[in-house]
Amino acid sequence: MPDQRPDQRFADGPQFPADFTWGVATASYQIEGAVAEDGRGPSIWDTFAHTPGKVRNGDTGDVACDHYHRYPEDVRLMADLGVSAYRFSIAWPRIQPTGRGPANPAGLAFYDRLVDELLGAGIAPVTTLYHWDLPQALEDDGGWLNRDTAYRFAEYAGMVGTALSDRVRMWITLNEPFVSAAIGYGLGEHAPGRRLLAGAFPATHHLLLGHGLAVPALRATGDVSVGITENMAPVHPATDDPADADAARRMDGLHNRVYGDPVLLGRYPDDLAWIYAGTDLSAIRDGDLETIAAPLDFIGINYYAPNMVRAGGADSPLGVETVPWPDAPRTAFDWPVVPDGFHELMLQLRDRYGAALPPIYITENGAAYQDTLGPDGGVSDVDRIGYLDGHLRALRRAIADGVDVRGYFCWSLLDNFEWAEGYSKRFGLVYVDYPTQRRIPKQSYGWYRQLIADQARAVSTQDT
Ligand code: GCO
Repeated sequence: MPDQRPDQRFADGPQFPADFTWGVATASYQIEGAVAEDGRGPSIWDTFAHTPGKVRNGDTGDVACDHYHRYPEDVRLMADLGVSAYRFSIAWPRIQPTGRGPANPAGLAFYDRLVDELLGAGIAPVTTLYHWDLPQALEDDGGWLNRDTAYRFAEYAGMVGTALSDRVRMWITLNEPFVSAAIGYGLGEHAPGRRLLAGAFPATHHLLLGHGLAVPALRATGDVSVGITENMAPVHPATDDPADADAARRMDGLHNRVYGDPVLLGRYPDDLAWIYAGTDLSAIRDGDLETIAAPLDFIGINYYAPNMVRAGGADSPLGVETVPWPDAPRTAFDWPVVPDGFHELMLQLRDRYGAALPPIYITENGAAYQDTLGPDGGVSDVDRIGYLDGHLRALRRAIADGVDVRGYFCWSLLDNFEWAEGYSKRFGLVYVDYPTQRRIPKQSYGWYRQLIADQARAVSTQDT
């Protein structure tokens, strides 16, 4: 960690590119609420959150941050922050309540209003088509285990692109297919709560196939820039024991290479069968990899923390066991704060994919801390400032080392529904007092605003 006081801005000049995009990110189910309004159908997260025992404190996204009604106020918060872009996701069940059939006009109308509000504030909309809220009706037919869902996703992508691509240029097909497949279908800790372990591979493949089918469907709707968001992390073995090295290679495959190689190289890793330890891989059909490798304009990377693993016992999935990263501060999620891991990941992508690596946008980076309202009514979150400061400096080093990073979206604008953790984990630059829905900018909001202003000023003085 740099020995900078976390409230010190980047006083040493604009190491970020002059046209660098500064943004914030959210996701539909995590902030919108209004889950039964204007024709929205149920998603797998509505079902999962309403299933007792699945989400901490029995929290659900029924109301969340009520962004569906409060979006003008939230756009004003973004404008005051000075961001040039806002990454949000579209709830598929608002557009097609059952995942099939004609578009729901009221659902499209919400995003139409949101996009116009953003553009009116000078903020570019960056739209994620799938941030985990699959229409429940499609899950009833097998969800991502069913190859047909990939085709339904492409149809939905074309529908939304047709409605919005006149004003939305930057599109992200999927958010974190690894988490959708591994946590939702493999471990069962996220919706739809299936515990198939390595048997979840068909969900991995059909998500990637859906991505590949959605790219041309979006491009057919207008002059758009298309990418995918992957959450990746460097993986270190706990010891130099060869068994731990194997565990690290398997985890790097499961988490990173199985999702990066098909999209960027048009092939699964050579060790796919070893990674999945004999799992049935017959979901892969001729021609699928060519589809999945549809050319991209950028890749979104979400980074939070590195992983450390060792060879696990017989009961650990695929023989891999995560161990705590040593000697690092922790967030409220008990994730290690390791900015060097960010720099390491960027260089790993550069070296692993070379010319096949498109420009990178950091589509999520941030941290949860136990934020509380102070007696002055403010929220002092110096730990979050320290996390963001350290990670942005690591990112700046990676850019100086030749990694083409075009933008950074802080996760998140608002405290929000943190999946299985419900509202117990706060990631926002803005504190949400849920009982009143009051938005209270934290100290980190002011820090990020100043950083963006400093960068703009440094670039403009450079130009003179
Ligand atoms: C993810 C999701 C976000 C999370 C954030 C904090 O990366 O898991 O994209 O929805 O809320 O990352 O866990």
